[in-house]
Amino acid sequence: MNLVMLSYVLFSCLLLSVQAHNCQVSEIIRFTTRLLVSGSLSCSCLPIPEAGHELSCFVEGTEHLMKNNMNSKEILQRLNRSFQTQLDRKFCGHLSHSNQCQAKTKGNVKQFLTEILKTYQAIKKSKA
Ligand SMILES: *[C@@H]1O[C@H](CO)[C@@H](O)[C@H](O)[C@H]1NC(C)=O
Repeated sequence: MNLVMLSYVLFSCLLLSVQAHNCQVSEIIRFTTRLLVSGSLSCSCLPIPEAGHELSCFVEGTEHLMKNNMNSKEILQRLNRSFQTQLDRKFCGHLSHSNQCQAKTKGNVKQFLTEILKTYQAIKKSKA
């Protein structure tokens, strides 16, 4: 293995670990946007989190969607996995401060997904 290859490998590892700590921002934004477009299920039953409770509420809301929804099972599963991992490993700083979802209010699917988007877009902006 030559030096160029070695530095490439090291750089890739670094990128991967940075992305992990970066809360998979672009992945979550991509999935959430796709769900927003395909949205269904009309209820005002999804938690709009208080500050510090974001990830636990996103997990709870996503699980609710999985139980009651819809045709986007695969995307929901991947979102669920991302949120659960971030919560378990305390990624994403303030988003994962609490294991218990505390909601300001309840919202419908669109409001819930918009909240996710807003949260991760703010992270993206602050890192740019
Ligand atoms: C969500 O993801 C977690 C972690 O991967 C998993 O244990 C759980 O069963 C998933 N929930 C659903 C409803 O699939």
